[in-house]
Amino acid sequence: MDGAGDAAGEDMKAWCRAHPKIELHAHLNGSIRESTLLELAKDLGEKGVIVFEDVEHIITKSGRSLPECFILFDLFHVIATDHNSVTRITREVVEDFAAENVVYLELRTTPKNNESKGMTKRSYMKAVLDGLSAVDTVELVSSPFGKQCDNSAKSSMPFCNRGCGAQRKRICVRLLLSIDRRETTAAAMETVNLALELRDSGVVGIDLSGNPLIGKWQTFLPALTYAREKGLPVTIHCGEVPNKEEVNAILDFCPDRIGHACFLDEDDWQKLKASKIPIEICLTSNCKTNCVPSIKDHHFVDLYSIDHPMILCTDDPGLFSTSVSNEYYLAASTFELSKSEMHHLAFIAVDSIFADDGVKHLLEEIFESYEE
Ligand code: IMP
Ligand code: ZN
Repeated sequence: MDGAGDAAGEDMKAWCRAHPKIELHAHLNGSIRESTLLELAKDLGEKGVIVFEDVEHIITKSGRSLPECFILFDLFHVIATDHNSVTRITREVVEDFAAENVVYLELRTTPKNNESKGMTKRSYMKAVLDGLSAVDTVELVSSPFGKQCDNSAKSSMPFCNRGCGAQRKRICVRLLLSIDRRETTAAAMETVNLALELRDSGVVGIDLSGNPLIGKWQTFLPALTYAREKGLPVTIHCGEVPNKEEVNAILDFCPDRIGHACFLDEDDWQKLKASKIPIEICLTSNCKTNCVPSIKDHHFVDLYSIDHPMILCTDDPGLFSTSVSNEYYLAASTFELSKSEMHHLAFIAVDSIFADDGVKHLLEEIFESYEE
C-alpha cells in the first residue's frame, strides 16, 4: 500500500474505533484480557492446579492455531470456577468494550456448576453481576439493572466518544445466558429458569453454544421452546460445522437471531434469507476456526448485497486477539465499505438487540446524533 493508502487505512481504523458500536455476540470468558489470563494461569500453576509452562506460550503468542484455542477454552473453564476471578473478568471485559466505544453490549456466558468449589449456576451468575456492579472506570447506563433507562440518562447521552471531554465513557450492558451443548435437557431448563429469575438483573435472552460437534438439537429444544413461551428471546450458534438436519431444525424454530451461519446448503440459504433472521457475523472467528476460506469469501458479501440484517461481532476477542473496532475495520477494508455505509451497518444493529424499547430509543439517539 502506498503512503496515501496507509493514511486512508489509518483514518478508517481511527474512525472505526471512535464510532459508537453495538456488540451482540461476545462470550464472557472468551473476552478475557490477555494480561489477566496470564496472571490467573500463573496463579493456578503456583497452586498446582495446572502446569503453567504448558499454556504460557499459547497465551502470549499472537496467532493461535485452532487446537491451541481449544486448549485455552479448557483453561477458561478452570479459571471460571473461582467466583472472584469471574467477578474480575466481568468488570474488566465491560471496561474494555466501553473503552473502544461499544455503547451497548449483550454479554453471554454459560452459568456453571462446580460442587468442589461450592459454585452453583446461581452463585456463578451472582459473581457476574458483582462484576457489573464493580465497574468503575466507565459508567453503566441504567444501573442498577431492571429500571428502564430514565430521562437523566437520556439527557447525558450521547457521551464523549472521541476522548475529548471530561465525561466518562458510558455503556449499557445486558446479559444472555448460554446453554452449553454438553448439557442435558434438565440442565438447559435450569439455565432458562435462572434467566427468568434474573430478568430484573439485566438478563434479556438465551444462547445455545459450545462445541458444535457435541449434543443433539432435540436435547435443547424443550428449554429453548420454554424460553420462548416465557417471552425470552433466543439466539443460536448455527452452522459452525456441516449439519444439515440441525440447521434445518434451527431455521424451522426461527430464533430471534443466529450466530455465524457458515455451513448452509443452498435451500437453507434461501430459507434464511426469506426469514430475515438477523445474523451475528464474526469475521475473525470464522476465519480462525476455518469456517470460511477467507474474509473476502465470507457470506457477509452475499448477505450485504440483499440487505439481510447483520451485526458485526467479535465472538471471543480475547481468544481470537481481536476487538469490535478491528472487526469493523476488517469489514470496511475488505469489502470496501465507506464511512457512511459503516455508519448504517452500526446503526441498524439497534433493531436486533434484545433489550426493551427504552434502550432502543437511547441507542437510536446516539447513532442519529453521531457526526461521521
Ligand atoms: P463463557 O460461557 O463465558 O464461559 O464463554 C466461553 C464459552 O463460550 C466456551 O466454553 C464455549 O462454550 C462458548 N463459545 C465460545 N466461542 C464459541 C464458538 O465459537 N462456538 C461455540 N461456542 C463458543
Ligand atoms: Zn460464539
